[in-house]
Amino acid sequence: MKLDPIQAASAAQFDKQSQHYGKGHVLEQTADVESALKHIPLRPGWRALDVATGGGHTGLLLAARGCDVMLGDLSANMLERAAKLGAERGLHVATRQFPAEAIPFSAGEFDLVSCRVAPHHFSNPEGFVREAARVLKPGGYFLLIDPSIADGHPEVEAWLHDVEKWRDPSHHRIWSEGTWQRWCATAGLMLVHSELQPMKQPDLEWYFTAAATSPENRAKVREAIRTAMPAVREFMRLGEEDGKTVWWWQRLVLVARKPDRSH
Ligand SMILES: C[S@@+](CC[C@H](N)C(=O)[O-])C[C@H]1O[C@@H](n2cnc3c(N)ncnc32)[C@H](O)[C@@H]1O
Repeated sequence: MKLDPIQAASAAQFDKQSQHYGKGHVLEQTADVESALKHIPLRPGWRALDVATGGGHTGLLLAARGCDVMLGDLSANMLERAAKLGAERGLHVATRQFPAEAIPFSAGEFDLVSCRVAPHHFSNPEGFVREAARVLKPGGYFLLIDPSIADGHPEVEAWLHDVEKWRDPSHHRIWSEGTWQRWCATAGLMLVHSELQPMKQPDLEWYFTAAATSPENRAKVREAIRTAMPAVREFMRLGEEDGKTVWWWQRLVLVARKPDRSH
């Protein structure tokens, strides 16, 4: 598997940190996926591809709903742990190691391509959307959930980018809601639903542990929070609760569909 430097950094980071993303991780809470599925007429027997599956929480939910699921990720350790978690729950899933930017399946193979809380690591997210559209069957659905930001807040976006890069150097970039919508349109997908949901990050220290943030970078993040401009402070709802740093992100939940020209 040939990886670019951004993909290689992610693979190394997540191989090393895979034990943190299974049981007990906040991503195990899948209310966001459940609510997005209201916009998708999911049926048992659908072929679903969960790209950048991490701990497998999205893919395993789809398997529990009767889909025939393929889990994909750059990290072999993540795939191994996700498949093991599935087996513990009596779910059979297939796994395949690949970068989201080059999906190793033929055109029109899947009814659903999902990707949750991962594209901010991708080196070429637009290429990923193109690939997702390619492997979808006509009429198939694309489900994307990722940290994002409303268009028109460049100063907050820049601040968030710095902080995230320090916290987790494998973070590449978050993209605005409008940018994702444009990429979907360019890839020929029709927008079904798009929504920015507020998402509380309840404890900065916990996120440092999950990403194994270095002591120097932890200090940089704390300083950026201390000195954040009022516009950033307000947008991110930066604050303290029970001695813990809390802030709010925006999470994009986007559903799009590949047109079915046979109807
Ligand atoms: C936070 S985890 C994903 C969480 C998961 N989707 C869920 O619903 O719980 C991020 C995952 O993205 C994977 N990843 C990062 N960059 C990738 C890329 N370019 N292609 C495929 N996987 C990637 C990492 O290996 C990691 O397992």
